[in-house]
Amino acid sequence: MNIDLKITKLNQIRDKALSDIEKISSSDDLNKAKVQYLGRKGELNQQSKELKKLVLEDRQQLGRVINQVKTEIQQVLTTRKKELEQSGTKELDQTDTSLPGIRPQTGFLHPSTQVMRQVNSFFRYLGYSVYEGPEIETDDNNFAKLNLPLDHPARDLADTLYIKEPDYLLRTHTSSVEIRAMLNEKLPLRIVVPGKVYRNETTNTTNNSMFYQYEGLVVDKNINMSSLKGTLVALAKFLYGEEVKTRFRCKYYPQVEPGAGMDIQCTFCGGKGCPVCKHRGWIEVLGAGMVHPNTLKACKVDTNKWSGFAFGMGFDRLVMLKYGISDVRKLYNGELVIEEIA
Ligand code: DAH
Repeated sequence: MNIDLKITKLNQIRDKALSDIEKISSSDDLNKAKVQYLGRKGELNQQSKELKKLVLEDRQQLGRVINQVKTEIQQVLTTRKKELEQSGTKELDQTDTSLPGIRPQTGFLHPSTQVMRQVNSFFRYLGYSVYEGPEIETDDNNFAKLNLPLDHPARDLADTLYIKEPDYLLRTHTSSVEIRAMLNEKLPLRIVVPGKVYRNETTNTTNNSMFYQYEGLVVDKNINMSSLKGTLVALAKFLYGEEVKTRFRCKYYPQVEPGAGMDIQCTFCGGKGCPVCKHRGWIEVLGAGMVHPNTLKACKVDTNKWSGFAFGMGFDRLVMLKYGISDVRKLYNGELVIEEIA
């Protein structure tokens, strides 16, 4: 190959390099181009290897051309690098910082906690205070003062877990806190009491030996059954929507007179009957009534002046109905129930 041909070849390499580098848009590709043209095994070094085959004069001439082409390519690479850096900063400047970021996956509150907070805020809105009491109770607060006669089946050892018989036990309901509130607070009184209660139950899909109850108590002037009904129907609508159907039935609870139970139409089958409502179409969600005069008197409340209503509900069932969770144990074990509450 004569020297002119070699020079033409070098010019071709340069032209191709320059036009390639112009089009490059990332620093990665820029590095690749640098290796391809100027690297140790690059195209220009291949040409340099040919030099030793040439006579001195040609070698000098071609050497100069090779160096010149190298310098040109190096310059274009440097210029392009700067351009890319600048446009990169421009792109950064154009970033819309008001766009929402990528949200990391976080946990969420337990479904029971969520519903409990919702129900608390519903009652706070109606002027109630959220009240608490201890889980270890006296027989007096848990039973006697609630007008539970000594021979009442709820006092049976089969239901109650005693800490120290006969006086100390794990509360079997949150009603014991009604007693504490009436004994310790000034009237009128409006409280709700969320909390854990304990019973000696065999665990299955709907029962657990520890579960949550949600209690309510109002003691005021002119309180009657319609105040109770209005409050509980409003609660049902708040939880399950305006269309929810409720019904009240007479029920016996020692602590109230008259006593009532509230059912809501099964949210799973719309009242047609299904395994969840045991084919009844309705699900009992709470017990309620007008506070029994004996209960009021046991707490030194003047029954000529004051009357009250109370209600107590199994809170887990409420949560299960709201989210369509079929097994109460899912609320207490560590497994996520995401697929069910999504
Ligand atoms: N304490 C009752 C139970 O655990 C539920 C209950 C019924 C609470 C009537 C009340 C009430 O406040 O008025 O089964």
